[in-house]
Amino acid sequence: MRDFYDQLAHDYHLIFRDWDASMAYQAEVLDGILRAGLGTGPHRVLDCSCGIGTQAIGLALGGHRVVAADLSPVATARAAAEAAARGAVLPVTTADMRQLPFGPSCFDVVLSADNALPHLLRAEDVQAALAGMLRVLRDDGLLMVTLRDYDEARRTRPTAPPPQVSQTREGRVVTFQLWHWHQDGEHYDLEHFQLVPDGRSWDVRVRRTTSWALTRGQLTDFVTAAGFTDVTWHLPDSSGFHQPVLTARRPAPPRTAGSARPAP
Ligand SMILES: C[S@@+](CC[C@H](N)C(=O)[O-])C[C@H]1O[C@@H](n2cnc3c(N)ncnc32)[C@H](O)[C@@H]1O
Repeated sequence: MRDFYDQLAHDYHLIFRDWDASMAYQAEVLDGILRAGLGTGPHRVLDCSCGIGTQAIGLALGGHRVVAADLSPVATARAAAEAAARGAVLPVTTADMRQLPFGPSCFDVVLSADNALPHLLRAEDVQAALAGMLRVLRDDGLLMVTLRDYDEARRTRPTAPPPQVSQTREGRVVTFQLWHWHQDGEHYDLEHFQLVPDGRSWDVRVRRTTSWALTRGQLTDFVTAAGFTDVTWHLPDSSGFHQPVLTARRPAPPRTAGSARPAP
């Protein structure tokens, strides 16, 4: 999995028709959800699967104090360079979201965007990641997770989602995937193709990984079991984001009878 994103990091922006426009749009929508939940801020945000910085850079440019982390060192190196090139303040580190290297209660928001969590293939991996996210969030802090509409995919079992086309100076780049569903109907192997113009022919780049097509019900159950409350799904029709977005809260500890008593 790490190899997949190490290999893809250099070409990741080619998945988007216009990566900068997508960064701006994603940050605007996520920022709206975030501020609706926590107030105007600015807020301390951990993007724990930042990739090359698609959401982290826009949120940092929007004024939040963002820390970006990802499992892929090639992706984090590029995120740092892309942030610097745009004048964004973005500390970046390489880390596994199942073992977040941050102290308790350091962040107001933990974000994992654009289908990163489905790379955790077993329940215990998802549980470890969510336990860490809960730990680094302050009381009442906000978890934000975005992922594909797998409810639909689990019904229809697509084998090839629609291709994406981006325009470069050298010509059009075509990105498409082939999905190979496992017998369990929940996991699938993914072949990721990029056709990059190469003079009069194509350079074909193929990378492979595996994902767990978690339904919204499954993720809700994991998030609730991890100790979060107020689990809410923001669907594309209402949020304007291209994927369903889950938000949830780290609950504040219950006030004890003693804490409510006036000081003597
Ligand atoms: C589809 S990409 C999304 C990246 C970024 N959020 C974006 O939208 O450009 C998924 C990311 O999850 C990261 N990832 C997968 N497993 C991870 C883990 N265990 N810990 C941290 N990052 C992980 C990958 O390295 C990859 O950068």
